[in-house]
Amino acid sequence: MKYSRSRELSALLEVSRALTRSFSLEENLTQAMRILSEMLDMQRGCVYLLGPLSGELKIVAAHGLSKDEIQKGKYRIGEGIVGTVMKKGQPMFIPDIGEEARFLNRTGSRPDKEGISFLCYPIRLKDEVFGVISVDRIYSSIHGGVEDDLRVLGIVSSLIAQFVGLWRMFKEADAEREELRKQLTDRFSLPNLVGESPAFQAVLKIVTKVSVTDATVLLLGESGTGKELIARTIHFQSPRSKGPFVAVNCAALPENLLELELFGAEKGAFTGATEKRIGRFERAKGGTIFLDEIGEMPLQLQAKLLRVLQERTFERLGSSEPIKADVRVIAATNRDLLEEVRKGAFREDLYWRLNVVAVRLPALRERAEDIPYLINYYLKKFNRKYHKRISISADAIDVLTNYKWPGNIRELANMLERLVIMSERDTITAEDLRREIIWPESTYSGVSKTCGNNQSLHRMVENIEKERIINALKEHNYIQSHAARALGITPRQLGYRIKKYGIKIVKQ
Ligand SMILES: Nc1ncnc2c1ncn2[C@@H]1O[C@H](COP(=O)(O)OP(=O)(O)OP(=O)(O)O)[C@@H](O)[C@H]1O
Ligand SMILES: [Mg+2]
Repeated sequence: MKYSRSRELSALLEVSRALTRSFSLEENLTQAMRILSEMLDMQRGCVYLLGPLSGELKIVAAHGLSKDEIQKGKYRIGEGIVGTVMKKGQPMFIPDIGEEARFLNRTGSRPDKEGISFLCYPIRLKDEVFGVISVDRIYSSIHGGVEDDLRVLGIVSSLIAQFVGLWRMFKEADAEREELRKQLTDRFSLPNLVGESPAFQAVLKIVTKVSVTDATVLLLGESGTGKELIARTIHFQSPRSKGPFVAVNCAALPENLLELELFGAEKGAFTGATEKRIGRFERAKGGTIFLDEIGEMPLQLQAKLLRVLQERTFERLGSSEPIKADVRVIAATNRDLLEEVRKGAFREDLYWRLNVVAVRLPALRERAEDIPYLINYYLKKFNRKYHKRISISADAIDVLTNYKWPGNIRELANMLERLVIMSERDTITAEDLRREIIWPESTYSGVSKTCGNNQSLHRMVENIEKERIINALKEHNYIQSHAARALGITPRQLGYRIKKYGIKIVKQ
């Protein structure tokens, strides 16, 4: 009795299922060949794919062949039956391989070749033939004709073509992603952090230690001191580096939008919520969430964040189903968070939750000895970027090392970029810097930044006063009564001046 059409159909259905079962090329294709053997009596099914580098056809999956035989199955284009099918892009049928000189039997899997027919079909996607499938057949009365077999193989080969096409795209994307991740891991690594000073080395020591843990980290420091860079470094050097790094600026959005951004929302959670929305906590799954400018987070949201840190779960807006927060939290601020706690603007319990490991990034003026290294680093970087070969004179380095850098490393980097772009000569000199920074012989950084030569005496005095207040506050850990005593004024007078000059604590 012949095989019925419905048996063919069932076999094809099984093959298509096998090809969508996993993303393993070998597993799926082997399974497909097994189905052809078990359901349709097509023996020793082989899938050959063209190796992009070798230019050779190689068996990637087979049923009924030993590992050793599979290894031997290699053909050049045009070689043997398989190579000919590849070259011509046309199917071939060999009625009896014992009588066919072109049949090479390279795998050695058929010692007795009598009476075996061989069917071979190209695997084609669009116009590209990138492989071949073949099966053996010993025809008997139960089998249909060759035409029927070729039709089945044609369908199987196009299913395989689709699958292999997708699999290749997936592999390429995967390799690309891995390559990018490697680049990031490299870029955000300790050797790429510039700084030899004891103050910065102390930071690196903590970074090394916390990187291997899942501990929450709080990064403190003025603007431009490298908080985000350190956050990324911690992530990319941590066991979570394969997961995402998701940064959220807590100052950039109004409260309700920030909440939506962080936690996401269920469809229909509020008017206009036509789609389910995935929040950043969910996106950061398996990775790190970086909560930048945490000091600006509204109190109500602070309460929610506290819950996430305590219970390690959260809910989308409009849902009561808890989602596991599989994230590492790194927070950063340029505010004095303790002072914010004192003022009631920041929750104390949240402060302590975040403060598991606190890293204070030193201002650039506190690590002036690093400035020449940074100059060197950025000159190289921008020379590369703009295809220039600009160097810097010793007196210019001197000037930059003595400058107080209110904008820290970001300011230094921006200035050097500008200098490299603008420079018409090969060397940046102290003279070039005059255009960049106002350079009076004053030691007061704020003054040097803000006072031009034609500034009134009054403004200058004010600037000096402001600077002294800031320094005194810093020296006394922002305890205002102590700072006032050191300055020889009353706490009231100090409070008045802090307001008048708009001095932000920590921020200069
Ligand atoms: N140690 C360092 N070595 C090299 N470059 C650094 C270093 N620290 C910071 N930078 C660079 O300085 C710039 C500012 O760093 P970053 O953005 O991390 O600062 P930030 O503290 O987050 O500032 P802000 O509070 O203003 O957001 C970046 O371009 C960063 O690459
Ligand atoms: Mg930042």
